[in-house]
Amino acid sequence: MAMGSVKHALDAAMDAARWAPSTHNTQPWTFSVSEQEICLRADPDRKLRVEDVSGREMLISCGAALFTMRTAMSCEGFEPVVRVLPDPDRPSLLATLRLGAEVQADESIHALGGEIERRRTHRAGFADVPVPDALVEKLVLAAADEGVKLTPVRSVEAVSVIAALTQAAQGVQAQDQRFSLEVIRWARPPGSSRTDGVPAEGYPREAARTEPHFPQRDYAWGHDWGSQTDQRASAATGVVAVLTTRGDSRQDWIDAGQALQHVLLYASAHGVSAAFHTQALEMELLREFMRQELCSGQYPQLIMRLGVTFDDKGSMRRPLSEILW
Ligand SMILES: Cc1cc2nc3c(=O)[nH]c(=O)nc-3n(C[C@H](O)[C@H](O)[C@H](O)COP(=O)(O)O)c2cc1C
Repeated sequence: MAMGSVKHALDAAMDAARWAPSTHNTQPWTFSVSEQEICLRADPDRKLRVEDVSGREMLISCGAALFTMRTAMSCEGFEPVVRVLPDPDRPSLLATLRLGAEVQADESIHALGGEIERRRTHRAGFADVPVPDALVEKLVLAAADEGVKLTPVRSVEAVSVIAALTQAAQGVQAQDQRFSLEVIRWARPPGSSRTDGVPAEGYPREAARTEPHFPQRDYAWGHDWGSQTDQRASAATGVVAVLTTRGDSRQDWIDAGQALQHVLLYASAHGVSAAFHTQALEMELLREFMRQELCSGQYPQLIMRLGVTFDDKGSMRRPLSEILW
């Protein structure tokens, strides 16, 4: 293996991982390289202390970064050799990735790789264009590849219940100063030079309500922030889907993150975007209610809506120099 191509592949993997989704774009990860191996760690300073007491969302975000690195390594022509939580004595070490055998990635992997930087979170209703059932089935298989269950919620009643839980959680969080301050802390004002947080271009100034209503988080917080693209005609809910795991361990959270990014990249390669609504899962009682009543006892890790949108949104990431230790 030529040293030049090894370094190039490791750099490409870390560079790509920056574009993984993370809660409020906190980018809660650090990377280091030793002996041709990338070490992925969570950055506890970037954990959301109010919303994410257990660090569950932080590890889901890091899991998404891990899947991104695996995909990028494959695109660079190397089989990724991954160990998740390799050392119980070093709990902050979430995974190691080494370059394995040289392999030619097939077209489907390159299709995922092509979406890493292009994929964006959507924060409004979707266009009135259906998501094909066959694609939803492929997304279910993509999650299953990572040992995680993706359940499209087909019953109108169940969708209404999930919307109502989201409304309840959003209502409570909006009135709780600790939650609000945390959202404001991660809302990026227009023109800001910071390279993390949710940018004002990442959500519409005005959006039509979906029926049932899935409230967004209030990143604008009373300002007239938000992109001016006209979203009023986009009011479709899309397909509501829930990612669940059998257990609720750190390994399960990392797996959920890997499954999330697999699903998102596959969807993006087929013209479908996702909107996330995780408020209800941040409130222990509501999460437990969902687990028992709607998820057959499995642990809900992420609630999303999948649909088609034609608008362009911005996002940004920290440079590798800030993340690489
Ligand atoms: C675990 C997790 C939870 C998230 N929850 C929400 C959410 O409730 N609302 C939302 O608008 N976005 C949510 N997001 C999306 C992030 O805000 C988004 O990934 C981040 O701002 C980066 O933007 P991008 O995905 O467009 O690149 C979540 C992402 C992750 C990984």
